[in-house]
Amino acid sequence: MKNIILFASGGGSNAQRIMEYFGQRDGYRVRGLFTNNPNAGAIAVADSHDVPSVIFTREELNDGTLLREVKQYDPHIIVLAGFLWKFPADIIKEYPHKVINIHPALLPNYGGKGMYGMNVHRAVHENKDKESGITIHYVNEHYDEGNVILQKAIAVEECLSPEEVALKVLSLEHEHFPEVIEQLLNKEV
Ligand code: GAR
Repeated sequence: MKNIILFASGGGSNAQRIMEYFGQRDGYRVRGLFTNNPNAGAIAVADSHDVPSVIFTREELNDGTLLREVKQYDPHIIVLAGFLWKFPADIIKEYPHKVINIHPALLPNYGGKGMYGMNVHRAVHENKDKESGITIHYVNEHYDEGNVILQKAIAVEECLSPEEVALKVLSLEHEHFPEVIEQLLNKEV
């Protein structure tokens, strides 16, 4: 059984997609949902899939408590699905090439601190970029800078508003993220 753990800070639509996808497949399970946000919609999503949630503080993230907790879930992959805090170095070190993130833009464009969610889509739209998209990448100790696993693009020219860009990008995320997770889990020795 391959164990997946998710980190999410917000609404949790990616978390939901991932739980639905692996709920229909043998040999995988989402073992836990980790969040920094007690009000995250992702918690209700986890409840509805009988996945336990762990809510943690910034202190726990940085003082080793979270690493100890994560180890108890024996993850084969750690997936950041809309997680908005910087991910701690001790967990990255413990799980090399097993922590991945999804970013709602074509990195290295629109990455770094403060570049998340609608901030990204507003900037893309204001700059009248031709394309935007998604980047799924390994997580290293710098924001949005780990090796790219997959990028997919949408045409921004056809979008009338940042909200429209957001919708198109999110639907790309839902389409590709679960499959990439599955592929990475199967690549493992
Ligand atoms: C997603 O668009 C994801 O790419 C983004 O947060 C959203 C979460 O949506 N992540 C980042 O911006 C990370 N820098 P969701 O809660 O509906 O899955």
